[in-house]
Amino acid sequence: MPELVQPAGRYKASFLEAVREAQSSGSGLGDTLRFNVPDMQRDFPSFLAHLCRFAPGQPLPDGFVHSEYLWLVEGDTYLGRASVRHTLNDRLRQFGGHIGYEVRPSARRQGHATRILQLSLKRAHQLGIAQALLTCDADNTGSRRAIEKNAGVLEGEFRIDDHPKPFLRFWVPTHP
Ligand SMILES: CC(C)(COP(=O)(O)OP(=O)(O)OC[C@H]1O[C@@H](n2cnc3c(N)ncnc32)[C@H](O)[C@@H]1OP(=O)(O)O)[C@@H](O)C(=O)NCCC(=O)NCCS
Repeated sequence: MPELVQPAGRYKASFLEAVREAQSSGSGLGDTLRFNVPDMQRDFPSFLAHLCRFAPGQPLPDGFVHSEYLWLVEGDTYLGRASVRHTLNDRLRQFGGHIGYEVRPSARRQGHATRILQLSLKRAHQLGIAQALLTCDADNTGSRRAIEKNAGVLEGEFRIDDHPKPFLRFWVPTHP
């Protein structure tokens, strides 16, 4: 059964393969599409440290909140990831929410986003979040379904100036 873990060196080969998959298909979250694979190949520990830059205890740049990256893995195979934000600011309250996720292209349509969200809600509960805010583009059926399968309650459909599509906001109960 896939589990949500801290990013670590044992997943390097599989993670880099997943980033190449996302970049060659152009399908993934923005930062994944911008990762520099040769740099990561050369110095994976620096990349792992970079992923911890918003951890509690680190100085935050303006406009950022504490957050953590978690990877969904099975054995040494990387399947997808979540970002769990520990609090919301005005921007995240509007768009972005507490939890973001993606599944590598070759592992989609197997229930992994649903599981990433289920496990991330558990993590959010540990962080003292009772209701997690999730947003997704109105046309992102896979993400919407994953949220609905985790009991998300629709707040409504919204638009903001700097996002090209209408998007949905859901409140999702967390659980132990
Ligand atoms: C959206 C995304 C996370 C879905 O991941 P996934 O692992 O394929 O999702 P799941 O397998 O858990 O599927 C959840 C539900 O959505 C459905 N679904 C998944 N992808 C779908 C698609 N492209 N079209 C229609 N339905 C889809 C599944 O069939 C399932 O519904 P069901 O149980 O009723 O059959 C994945 O496509 C992805 O990483 N996309 C790029 C990044 C992204 O959009 N992240 C979310 C930002 S809000």
